[in-house]
Amino acid sequence: MTRNSPTTRPRLTVIGTGYLGATHAVCMAELGFEVMAVDVDTTKIERLARGETPFYEPGLDELLRRNLAAGRLRFTTSFAEVADFGEVHFLCVGTPQRPDGRGADLRYLHSAVSSLAPHLRRRCLVVGKSTVPVGTAADLAARLAAEAPAGASAEVAWNPEFLREGFAVEDTLRPDRLVIGVASPAAEAKLRAVYEPITGQHGTPLIVTDFATAELVKVAANAFLATKISYINAMSEVCEAVDADVTTLAQALSLDARIGGKFLRPGVGFGGGCLPKDIRAFQARAEELGVGASLGFLRQVDEINLRRRQRVVTLARKAVGGSLAGRRVAVLGAAFKPNSDDVRDSPALAVAELIAAEGADVVVYDPMAMENAARVRPELGYAPSAAEAITGAEVTVLLTEWAEFTELDPAAIAERAATSTVIDARHALDRDRWQRAGWTYLAPGRPVPDLARLPRPRSERLAMATARGVS
Ligand code: UDX
Repeated sequence: MTRNSPTTRPRLTVIGTGYLGATHAVCMAELGFEVMAVDVDTTKIERLARGETPFYEPGLDELLRRNLAAGRLRFTTSFAEVADFGEVHFLCVGTPQRPDGRGADLRYLHSAVSSLAPHLRRRCLVVGKSTVPVGTAADLAARLAAEAPAGASAEVAWNPEFLREGFAVEDTLRPDRLVIGVASPAAEAKLRAVYEPITGQHGTPLIVTDFATAELVKVAANAFLATKISYINAMSEVCEAVDADVTTLAQALSLDARIGGKFLRPGVGFGGGCLPKDIRAFQARAEELGVGASLGFLRQVDEINLRRRQRVVTLARKAVGGSLAGRRVAVLGAAFKPNSDDVRDSPALAVAELIAAEGADVVVYDPMAMENAARVRPELGYAPSAAEAITGAEVTVLLTEWAEFTELDPAAIAERAATSTVIDARHALDRDRWQRAGWTYLAPGRPVPDLARLPRPRSERLAMATARGVS
């Protein structure tokens, strides 16, 4: 038999077709596996089966269609069907923050296991990929042994996923590392076979460990990334106190190879469906385990992150002379980061909301996330382009660093703004270019020009000129 011959390959199933599950299903089919994915959301399954991804992820649509056409990828809403089809079942359901606290809400995970377990009649491996509180894999192993007709032959493994939105395909097909938590040599051998197309081709390191370590790797990685961002944002706060420049500070730090420049971009802080809820769930779990003090710093990481949103609002307030009530504010960006239409815990939308709460007339534009933004924040105004959002604005706030915004012609759009003042909350714009085009440029963590001398709105300037002309 040749290496990777289809006959040696287990048939795979994927439970849950959100960002993680849909990407995993498509990419495993791309690697040559036969894959069946299941979700309780009928609409999502119908769309996927038609070749439409229910969210924006570069490159995924094409791979989805290709693998549907090749007959390697199927979608269903039946757990009986997936149990019958597959030998390795990947659990990819969401584990959001609990509505009543900081811990992870495991209801979707438990419900998926309740739906699957009664159909597991032969030897199989159930592999958790969802981000979970440490200890969950052991709980699920006990549940499966008790609830599956196959008993202990329905084994559990844990295989955290590190994909970034916007790079999900790349991160799945060519990950930095693979981590598998297993309880038996058979489970290890099975997962090594599943990932052989990746490890064999790219030499990807594969770390084999126990359940708890595998679960912890994921939350520890995200906690580290969040801490790095909040570290540089804390430096921003110190810079603001002494009129220093955090962008230069970050650049100088990044040249120390021990520190490095990744995840050291200051600005409005982190958001999205992972980092914020993961650091909260990690703390909550540590407290349950009696080691809350060890992760006490994550509370500050969270607080620093949220304070950055408030700082942008303060700059906006200052820019318009003290009160945002009745002022027109253009917000560029709604997604939590560029190349995504995800608005979950988006700093951009949170800032837009805070500014609107002070009575401002907020007009938002985002290249990709308009629909999602309008669904969760219908009370905000929306414009069909950056230029239209900026038209008549007394201050323009850049909150997501889309290339479309960095490529704007500042001279052309200055004509449209009532006041050419921009707050570059992501340090994405070329400050000199914008200043040369007549804009007053403000950014968190950078020296703020004398606000008393900020330009007045065009309408006021015109009125003053007319008054001078008359007198
Ligand atoms: C993250 C992890 O990177 C990924 O490994 C994990 O699997 C899921 O969570 P993602 O949420 O897609 O991925 O986004 P990421 O690129 O990590 O960015 C998270 C947030 O941090 C964004 O809001 C981004 O704008 C912000 N960020 C990132 C900064 O503010 N500064 C930085 O230097 C880097």
